[in-house]
Amino acid sequence: MTSPEHEQQDLFTSFREVFGHEADGVWMAPGRVNLIGEHTDYNDGFVLPFAIDRRARVAVRTLPDSRTVRLVSAQGTDGVLEFDLDSLEPQGGYGWATYPLGVAWALERSGIRVPGFELFLDSTVPLGSGLSSSHAIECATITALAELTGASLSAQELVLLTQKGENDFVGAPTGILDQSASLRGERGHAVFLDCRDQSVELIPFDAEADDLLMLVIDTRVAHSHSDGGYASRRAACEAGAAALGVPALRDLGVDDLPRAKELLDDLTFRRVRHVVTEDARVLETVSALKSEGAAAIGSLLDASHVSMRDDFEISCPELDLAVSSARDAGALGARMTGGGFGGSAIALTPRAVESQVRAAVLEAFSAAGFTEPQLFAVSPAEGARRLA
Ligand code: GLA
Repeated sequence: MTSPEHEQQDLFTSFREVFGHEADGVWMAPGRVNLIGEHTDYNDGFVLPFAIDRRARVAVRTLPDSRTVRLVSAQGTDGVLEFDLDSLEPQGGYGWATYPLGVAWALERSGIRVPGFELFLDSTVPLGSGLSSSHAIECATITALAELTGASLSAQELVLLTQKGENDFVGAPTGILDQSASLRGERGHAVFLDCRDQSVELIPFDAEADDLLMLVIDTRVAHSHSDGGYASRRAACEAGAAALGVPALRDLGVDDLPRAKELLDDLTFRRVRHVVTEDARVLETVSALKSEGAAAIGSLLDASHVSMRDDFEISCPELDLAVSSARDAGALGARMTGGGFGGSAIALTPRAVESQVRAAVLEAFSAAGFTEPQLFAVSPAEGARRLA
């Protein structure tokens, strides 16, 4: 039998080679796929993501009485990056180091004293793929630091601290979707999260039982939630809610849409319609999964994509092509996943047509002159934890 330390030996060894001593332990946090419920999180609504079997692992050692942070990434080429915890500036242009630094900064802002630390990162979440590669780093780091500082924080508190790091330090006005999936995911389940009260219901999601798989199509179109597109969608939602006299768009149902259409300008109305119908689709997806299983949700995925493409306008030609080519080749349903403007699409695909779907997507991208996408299957995996 191999011990947990043995299984993480590669990371312990890398840590020792770089820093010259032993790590205190190894922690991990996964990336996520959002099954459905996009741009609903910051509207107090519903989301249904799952943690995926691609993850960031961090080997960490604290440096008591020091304020120095040293970071190395197995995927980086920049060697050991060194920072002083007392000189961190929000949006300081630290590259990937922004993510571990941001959660250390947020922990300190909440009154938890963080000592200096050394961290070696190794991640299998493709960077910039829209699968929350950045949150995987943040959640692995905060899980490690919370334990090493002896802070007793609930999963909900960790989610909110990670969001604070993301909003105030990284500078992306994002919600709680990604952290919640990464920190609270469980193998074989999707995380049905009410973003108003952070309550979670784990919904069994077993595509394999229905001879299906969830294919990710990473378009490799770079996206960022720190530039204008994400923030302007959020602002339109807040303006819509204010004009309609509700605290958040979560408080509207599809029956309110005719009134919204009368009161709002066309653009704001379409932003609102996306969020209101998307919330309804999340609830429908949960009930379809419970009563019929994964094979029953294809049309909901399709409708979600159309709403994001036409009403919320956060898709792009590569995402649309990923979705349409996968559907035409036999996927049961497909949609872009995550914040949009690039990143990945997901396609719920019968095993029997997997190779056709893969070939059709690659062929369509090649014919359109787009960069070759990366395709891989994912399944619901466990959330952040200590590995050794
Ligand atoms: C990004 C953000 C999330 C969420 C999604 C859209 O992933 O980090 O908070 O808003 O976009 O659903």
